[in-house]
Amino acid sequence: MVRVKVMAAALTGLLAVSTLAGCGGGGDSGSGGGKDDGKLVLGFSQVGAESGWRTANTKSIQDAAAAAGYELKFSDAQGKQEKQIEAIRSFITQKVDVIAFSPVVTSGWDSVLKDAKDAGIPVILTDRAVDSQDKSLYKTFLGSDFVKEGKEAGDWLVKQNEGKTDPVNVVELQGTVGAAPAIDRQKGFAEAIKANPNIKIVKSQSGNFTRAEGKTVMEGILQSTPDIDVLYAHNDDMGLGAIEAIEAAGKKPGKDIQIITVDAVKDGMQALADGKINFIVECSPLLGPQLMDLAKKVKAGETVDPRILTEETTFTQEQAKAALPDRKY
Ligand code: AHR
Repeated sequence: MVRVKVMAAALTGLLAVSTLAGCGGGGDSGSGGGKDDGKLVLGFSQVGAESGWRTANTKSIQDAAAAAGYELKFSDAQGKQEKQIEAIRSFITQKVDVIAFSPVVTSGWDSVLKDAKDAGIPVILTDRAVDSQDKSLYKTFLGSDFVKEGKEAGDWLVKQNEGKTDPVNVVELQGTVGAAPAIDRQKGFAEAIKANPNIKIVKSQSGNFTRAEGKTVMEGILQSTPDIDVLYAHNDDMGLGAIEAIEAAGKKPGKDIQIITVDAVKDGMQALADGKINFIVECSPLLGPQLMDLAKKVKAGETVDPRILTEETTFTQEQAKAALPDRKY
């Protein structure tokens, strides 16, 4: 009898230890958010709310975290890198299980990422890359191939002008200076058109990925640059702002000036279907479910693919008409 009691007590003790260890988060997660309800705690630092794409991305992450039953600590950096660094440091102090973020710009992350690594908290990059040479500072990068997106935009333009030698003057509205999609979409587009000397970028300026800046920057360009054949905007929102400026200048967007954009959010797709945009390269903001899956894996200490690409397509005006009724964002 006494022996049975001693064994039962030993067993209870063992169970208590393993339950506590389980609460510790396991894998890379350090102290696991300092909570003992077993819920994965994810700290996410978002760029801001600059575009329709970003709003859809935030919703995807919030919905997916709720569906997975994770505790999401969400922070909006309002386009400022210092706010993102502050948020990441706060996630480290709070001992979250996993940190994910979409970096405003590519450079300047090594120090804070090293702090996260030293604290044993795995980091996932979503949407945008960093230029850190030390790849051990983050577990994976989930997002689009922005160079490919730029290339697809340029390829379409080259195809439209096949066999023609007339000059094609292109205005480029770049995204946020120093941001991965701005750098890469510029690069991909330039690569695609480089064998066609008649296609020239006559003006390239940042509209910061917003509709308002797309409009004001385009207003200025329309005044200073008389012959514009094509507008290539790094996202739908800047393209939509530019359309307002083009119409106010008495020109027809999609006809007098051909327009190519990236994203394929609902408003962009509507403008494409209405003939005001000519071609859109898709960039999917629906990263939430994949991010939750990755967070679970890295918390458990599993090795994940260091680069996970998003699936996306392109849209012509006809394709936009067909896709619009099902477009959720
Ligand atoms: O990083 C993705 C880009 O950021 C989207 O194309 C743009 O709309 C957003 O603001």
